[in-house]
Amino acid sequence: MTVIEQISVGLGDRSYPVLIGPDLLVMADKYLADLIVKKQVVIISDTIIGPIYQNSLAKAIMPICDRVEILQVPAGETSKSLSVLDKVCNDILNIGIDRNTVLIALGGGVVGDLVGFVSAVLLRGTQYIQIPTSLLAQVDSSVGGKTGINAKAGKNLIGAFHQPKLVLADTNLLISLPKRELLAGYAEIVKYGLLGDANFFSWLEDNWSGVLSLDKDKIIYAVKRSCEMKAKIVAADETEKSMRALLNLGHTFAHAFEAVANYDGQLLHGEAVAAGLGLAFDFSVIRKMCAKEDAIRVHNHLLQVGLPDNYASLPAGKAPISVIIEHMKKDKKNISGKLTFVLANKIGSACIVPNISEEEITSFFMAKGVNHV
Ligand SMILES: NC(=O)c1ccc[n+]([C@@H]2O[C@H](COP(=O)([O-])OP(=O)(O)OC[C@H]3O[C@@H](n4cnc5c(N)ncnc54)[C@H](O)[C@@H]3O)[C@@H](O)[C@H]2O)c1
Repeated sequence: MTVIEQISVGLGDRSYPVLIGPDLLVMADKYLADLIVKKQVVIISDTIIGPIYQNSLAKAIMPICDRVEILQVPAGETSKSLSVLDKVCNDILNIGIDRNTVLIALGGGVVGDLVGFVSAVLLRGTQYIQIPTSLLAQVDSSVGGKTGINAKAGKNLIGAFHQPKLVLADTNLLISLPKRELLAGYAEIVKYGLLGDANFFSWLEDNWSGVLSLDKDKIIYAVKRSCEMKAKIVAADETEKSMRALLNLGHTFAHAFEAVANYDGQLLHGEAVAAGLGLAFDFSVIRKMCAKEDAIRVHNHLLQVGLPDNYASLPAGKAPISVIIEHMKKDKKNISGKLTFVLANKIGSACIVPNISEEEITSFFMAKGVNHV
């Protein structure tokens, strides 16, 4: 008997369930039936995921639909662009839709962010469902309604908060995910333990190998606990006025490294986040906010699973301190030109620290061996 875990993102009349378990895709008709009013669906996927899963999904929902259309965008971060947004919107409009048409984002965070934004702007708002296929998307990007694309000036700068009607996180879909992508998604799971649940981090220290080998119970628990934590934070602060920023633990570092690496696939988001988590704990130790033993545990775990844990072990994204800081200055959390970081008091407790000067972060980077010029 397969256990399907269900959690709810509590946002009043915009609340929605997140279902987690194996074989959800092939039983999608059961979960989508009540949502597909007009019986018209557009599945949007990418050129890697589409060929693997789009036909199974179309076949599963055919009995509850009059019409199922399928679109694909190129795989990779470049699809979060104005040109792809333009093409997808026009392709969908050419199909002939109305506000009751349901869009399904079948893919990783790229497809999810893009389709969510298409759904937010098309006809001034349509409905969409997330079927996340990467671990990162299952534990993070599919939940919470942050949608968007990248601008020339930076990542995720064009977007909207627009919540899906349902998230179906089918853990069987992770079987085809490349190992490096799986590991990158695992970094976001570690992040949840570090920012708010020390027991979960301890559980990961004991069970990481089962999670990464996709042991059924362990991967379901890891995805469920991550989604539970994200759902709770999103319900309390949907539009990131306060505590939602805690989800950015490690991300001020990570986003800067990703910008340096040019989003060309040499540095995955989760890898940058892993290094950012190690650095956030080191920075917290230097600021005397956090015990050194906690930072050592964080580094040990990241190294044990095979993730980068600091600047030196980044596979790409390295630059002189001034260049990294220029990217950090574009972070949406900054206030009045001063850097804001999410740091840690201990494992399981993160906090937002504003007013960090360039001098302080420069001397931290110098202590870490980053080139000054
Ligand atoms: N909206 C949010 O709250 C939020 C949060 C975190 C990250 N993000 C965004 O998510 C994006 C990164 O997401 P991602 O890591 O999923 O990247 P991605 O969507 O590019 O997927 C990574 C790669 O894995 C492939 N893939 C995905 N699922 C697969 C599967 N089951 N089998 C085989 N291949 C598969 C994809 O085709 C792609 O090549 C970034 O753009 C980031 O900004 C958004």
